Amino acid sequence: MPIKFPFTKSKKQTLNRTLGLDYDHIPKHVAIIMDGNGRWAKNKGMPRIAGHKEGMSVVKRIVRHASDLGLHVLTLYAFSTENWKRPKNEVDFLMKLPVDFLGTYLPELIERNVQVQTIGDVSLLPPHTRKAINEAIEKTSKNNGLILNFALNYGSRFEMVHAVKEIAEKVEKGDISSDEVNEDLFSSHLYTSDLLEPDLLIRTSGEQRLSNFLLWQLAYSEFWFTEVFWPDFDESHFEKALCDYQNRKRRYGGI
Ligand code: IPE
Ligand code: IPE
Ligand code: MG
Repeated sequence: MPIKFPFTKSKKQTLNRTLGLDYDHIPKHVAIIMDGNGRWAKNKGMPRIAGHKEGMSVVKRIVRHASDLGLHVLTLYAFSTENWKRPKNEVDFLMKLPVDFLGTYLPELIERNVQVQTIGDVSLLPPHTRKAINEAIEKTSKNNGLILNFALNYGSRFEMVHAVKEIAEKVEKGDISSDEVNEDLFSSHLYTSDLLEPDLLIRTSGEQRLSNFLLWQLAYSEFWFTEVFWPDFDESHFEKALCDYQNRKRRYGGI
């Protein structure tokens, strides 16, 4: 019998047992490339934006589940620096999603002690999008549960070039010497400076590429791919990914 969500505690324990998930060793930081909304909609004869709308409700469910499981950070790739290439109506819809999402979900995020953060150049988002996000960041800034980190207008190459520019300026001004430039200093100039690196990267929809996501930060992360389109992704897929992660051996170049 399929397991129904949201589940009660006992159902959750059943699911964990079925999949063999070790509840005490949940990865701290999971990053997700939520992909396949457009194809999901197309398969159903609906416009692409219908896929994005459905994808938003999946975000809610996965955030709830991540928070229940005790994850520290969930980073979600919501809009890339390359996604501006899409038709205007789709970009407009995607820029309204944070408004709808936070409009309906912010009270629950607050109640769940979730802290909203972003990575990416949010200064280039339309004012209504920025307003919704800033409000969420502000109202959850004192929370110390799950960090829900949205990558919005995020591009890893841009992030790294920006970091290099900042460091070059410091060297030019004589604030630091070039000898002091090392991996830690570089990391501290990225959007993710305050976050642990992702333990696990999930990408839905069958694509097996990074699409300019966290190129530096994913150097030693485990990757997990699924053919499932993001709107069809659910708690059991998420737990399967975590389970598979728990069965991997991270060696970091050692033996
Ligand atoms: C992911 O789904 C959502 C965003 C990139 C914003 P897509 O919109 O990329 O869906 P596909 O890959 O075209 O199916
Ligand atoms: C990556 O998906 C970006 C997000 C999920 C926000 P895309 O659908 O934009 O990536 P490509 O174009 O297939 O590489
Ligand atoms: Mg895509």
